[in-house]
Amino acid sequence: MSALLEIENVTVSFGRRKHAITAVDNVTLHVEKGSATGIVGESGSGKSTLMRTVLGLNRPQAGSVRFRGAELGARRDLATRRAMQMVFQDPGTTLNPARTVGSTLAEMLRVHRVVPAERVDARVGELLDLVHLPAEIREARPHRLSGGQKQRVAIARALALEPELLIADEATSALDVIVQAGVLDLLAELRASTGVTLICISHDLDLVRYLCDTAVVMRHGRIVEQGPVAELFAAPSDPYTAELIAAAPTLPGSTEESVR
Ligand SMILES: Nc1ncnc2c1ncn2[C@@H]1O[C@H](COP(=O)(O)OP(=O)(O)OP(=O)(O)O)[C@@H](O)[C@H]1O
Ligand SMILES: [Mg+2]
Repeated sequence: MSALLEIENVTVSFGRRKHAITAVDNVTLHVEKGSATGIVGESGSGKSTLMRTVLGLNRPQAGSVRFRGAELGARRDLATRRAMQMVFQDPGTTLNPARTVGSTLAEMLRVHRVVPAERVDARVGELLDLVHLPAEIREARPHRLSGGQKQRVAIARALALEPELLIADEATSALDVIVQAGVLDLLAELRASTGVTLICISHDLDLVRYLCDTAVVMRHGRIVEQGPVAELFAAPSDPYTAELIAAAPTLPGSTEESVR
């Protein structure tokens, strides 16, 4: 395995001088191709800011981000933007309410010329299949869909671009437990079938344990601990990680398997 993403000494702050907040503080993180990394940490610890910086949505004050070995500047070419996709907590706000699901997906395929024009229609069908949505959903507008269906559409839209890196920022936290489990299974399945590299930001340690092989713990803008999921959760070496694990609500009989 080789590093797909290399975040080196990245610092991101907001505001000026006295009022400046350092959201990300000298973070270095390497993400291997094909891996699944979970980023956990309390609210405000800089998880989203770090990933927004990877996508080029926040500008770092210091440090660098390399993707596929090439340093990313403030301006990203189309191919780079295509290769990294993010799915957010509330798909309701990121899907265009005026468009049907089919036309949202078709537009993505056309704008980015993912497939030849005559293949667009068939590819929309394949994408719906991939995220286990029924073909009829093609004609529906987002307001008619359930939360879980909307999130599947958002995932299909991200996958339409055949990204190498898929970042899910609390992508299942607005969903109820059963629906959440379905979306988690879908992400695990997509990782296996497409080889996409996953980064999941989550408050839910069980989710990270189920879906990811590496966990990264952030606090106050820094990475306090990282390592293989099994080791990190079994024997955290940082006191804050231990605190997080102790504070996580445990469902009766909760094990790695029962999250499904
Ligand atoms: N655009 C912004 N302008 C000013 N401050 C910001 C901005 N974005 C984030 N911050 C601040 O940076 C810090 C880190 O925020 P961030 O959203 O990255 O945390 P997070 O770990 O994703 O939290 P949560 O779990 O609540 O989503 C917070 O103090 C936040 O208020
Ligand atoms: Mg966040």
